Amino acid sequence: MSLWSELSRSRLLSRTQLMARYYKYRSPEELEAGARALGLDIPTSQDLSVLLSPCQVGDRTVKNRMVVQPMEGCDGTLDGAPGELTIRRYQRFGDGGAAVIWAEATAIAENARMNPRQLWLAEHTQRAIGEMIEICRRSHRAANGSTGDLLVGLQLTHSGRYSHVRPQLAVHDPVLDPLTIDRSTGQPIGKDWPLLSDDDLKRIEDEYVDAARRAATIDVDFVDIKQCHRYLLSELLAARNRPGPYGGSLENRTRLVRNVIGRIRDELPDLLVVTRMNAYDGIPYQGQGEDFVGAVCDHDLPLSTAFGTSPHDHLDLAPEEPCQVATMLAELGIAMINVSAGNPYSNPHVVRPAEFPPVDGYHAPEHPLVGVDRQFRLARAIQQAVPEVPVVGSGYSWLQDFVPHAAAANITNGSVTLFGLGRGTLSHPDFARALAETGQFNRKQICRTFSYCTNLMRTKDHPLGQFPTGCPPFDKQTYGPLWKEAEPKLTGKSE
Ligand SMILES: Cc1cc2nc3c(=O)[nH]c(=O)nc-3n(C[C@H](O)[C@H](O)[C@H](O)COP(=O)(O)O)c2cc1C
Repeated sequence: MSLWSELSRSRLLSRTQLMARYYKYRSPEELEAGARALGLDIPTSQDLSVLLSPCQVGDRTVKNRMVVQPMEGCDGTLDGAPGELTIRRYQRFGDGGAAVIWAEATAIAENARMNPRQLWLAEHTQRAIGEMIEICRRSHRAANGSTGDLLVGLQLTHSGRYSHVRPQLAVHDPVLDPLTIDRSTGQPIGKDWPLLSDDDLKRIEDEYVDAARRAATIDVDFVDIKQCHRYLLSELLAARNRPGPYGGSLENRTRLVRNVIGRIRDELPDLLVVTRMNAYDGIPYQGQGEDFVGAVCDHDLPLSTAFGTSPHDHLDLAPEEPCQVATMLAELGIAMINVSAGNPYSNPHVVRPAEFPPVDGYHAPEHPLVGVDRQFRLARAIQQAVPEVPVVGSGYSWLQDFVPHAAAANITNGSVTLFGLGRGTLSHPDFARALAETGQFNRKQICRTFSYCTNLMRTKDHPLGQFPTGCPPFDKQTYGPLWKEAEPKLTGKSE
């Protein structure tokens, strides 16, 4: 069955929309002109040499400006260790030549996991996760020479509201709560769903520090204290309505992350501490009407539980607080900030601008370039607020053939220090080496943002409770059969 008929059947694309594809550019100039026509400024550069130049991250030098973004494969074992496909992914990422490999969301506790196959850094898994990191380094060394200028880090996460065991909320959110499902009943949580207590949050601080100790033991170069995509620490940034020491003022909302970073820096001075943070949450969208175009959910103004978002208009960025957080964390010695935005469950078009929406999404309510531009502006604002801290920009994959040209322009003009590739790494894990060796990405491997990877991730009807994800169109031998199995099970339901 063709992709078109699959997508039509899954009610995501009307025939008209299938015909109106967005990505039409044949050169960087056409991309720039397309952006101008939308009132946007997306600069590009033909000189890509800056992407191959070294830069400083903390006290380490990395050999190029290319980052493999954290990309969860949902392919671990039920007890949180890497599976065969997980190992394969990091072998490919190591081989691929990017100087920073930002390994995926790894839970700090069992009840912090987003799905039953998410990695979990614990006593019984740390050796296996350490071996995965070592395999990644070995593979990098074999294909690229040395590892002295490579950083491999681990993203430490608590899934909070999206924990698969049970939603764990830092704050009630009037728009997000009705969309948050208690998986034990399949029903949305109610208004009286209990919040995590201050003692719970103190315990979670300890769990973060324990996980960082384990990470140091297995020799990772950095740990990311994850604050993005509305998982727990991201939600805390927006917890203006929470009473007590972890809510209200920005100082309180950042208490947990500041305590964790401060403690890790004191106890483990050789471990780099970094963060991936949302600089804009926005608010939830849902598909509406026959064509299922995303429309913003009903909400009252002023908004009080969306971080980096104007209280008066959800579309307006409010980067003041995200910049203040970046400044606070810079004072604590954060070595790198990876800037992201949005919520993958409730506004996926913000997190990952796409040509085709995922099965639990809706048709984009905006041109994908608007989403790319938003991500670029957010990263620029943070980089300007903390010029001494290397900032990694996100949201590049939709630019396809011209990712390197936009990335080179952003680095050259000081908008970011490094650029991260997300979905594009699943189709083209060796994008960095291809660029170094041939001056371009391999056209036959460039991600076209058709959302297969997200669709696999959203398919839960599997004996282990979760399908593994990857790139069926470009990594066919491995993921083609999995897609065949998963496709009839696509539910179209958000988790
Ligand atoms: C399959 C999949 C898995 C992802 N896993 C993670 C993750 O573990 N941690 C994270 O911060 N972001 C995760 N993301 C988001 C990406 O890192 C990235 O921010 C997003 O895809 C936008 O970048 P891109 O346009 O280069 O794809 C994931 C995205 C996808 C599609």
